[in-house]
Amino acid sequence: MRRIAVSLTKGGVGKTTTAVNLAAGLASAGFEVLLIDADTQGQAGKSLGVQPASGLNELVAGEASLEQVITPARERLALLAGSKSLAGLKRLIARRDFGAERTLAEALAPLDGRYDFVIVDTAPGWDVLTINVLFYADEVLAPVSLEVMTLQGLSEFAQSLASIQRYREGLALRYVLPTFLDRRVRKSEEILAQLGAYYPTQLCQPIRYNVRLSEAPGYRQHIFEYAPNSPGAEDYHRLTERIANDGA
Ligand SMILES: Nc1ncnc2c1ncn2[C@@H]1O[C@H](COP(=O)(O)OP(=O)(O)O)[C@@H](O)[C@H]1O
Ligand SMILES: [Mg+2]
Repeated sequence: MRRIAVSLTKGGVGKTTTAVNLAAGLASAGFEVLLIDADTQGQAGKSLGVQPASGLNELVAGEASLEQVITPARERLALLAGSKSLAGLKRLIARRDFGAERTLAEALAPLDGRYDFVIVDTAPGWDVLTINVLFYADEVLAPVSLEVMTLQGLSEFAQSLASIQRYREGLALRYVLPTFLDRRVRKSEEILAQLGAYYPTQLCQPIRYNVRLSEAPGYRQHIFEYAPNSPGAEDYHRLTERIANDGA
């Protein structure tokens, strides 16, 4: 079972879009997928039209079982939502005397082996919940927007990640995904070249700027449902194939 966190400290870089469409792409390819929404906004679930009453908060609090918090979203695609109050979850975690950073990993341990992929969407910023996600995931996919200069954001994030990797050797920044590519913008090409120089093995084919990607959530659909022939679907299909082909 591969556990992939879609994460970057900066907001608006395409984390949720990537988590949702990658999860949907993998499910369509025949894999059993669990999408975990660890963002306070609950966008991932909403964009698929699934808003379960309970989620991570209730699970960690012991108020609900795993069976109760996992909701089918599509064929082979299940959702574990953040629930209404991830703030409550953060308080729960903070209250623990020790081992707080492993709270989530412990609660999710019974899922091991049940899915081919667990994809976790994370909130921007760096807090106890993000840290908990990174103590659970083995692979990190960092979307980097080519629109706003986030190269510095990526190196800062990589430094924060290194502080966790000291305790978790298995955790790897495995994918760097350029997003919002617009070939007409020269800066895009420049950032892309820099990313390739710093992260040659992690660099994925970019996701182009595509308005269909921003419209799909409003229709409660992922891109393969909403606009299967769009550039957005093509790009996320390519990403899905790369990740699936990488194996365990
Ligand atoms: N490649 C893209 N082209 C156009 N719009 C996009 C693209 N990726 C994401 N968006 C839109 O940009 C906004 C921010 O993306 P989102 O995935 O929510 O970022 P994050 O989760 O990192 O905050 C959303 O409105 C989303 O629909
Ligand atoms: Mg988001």
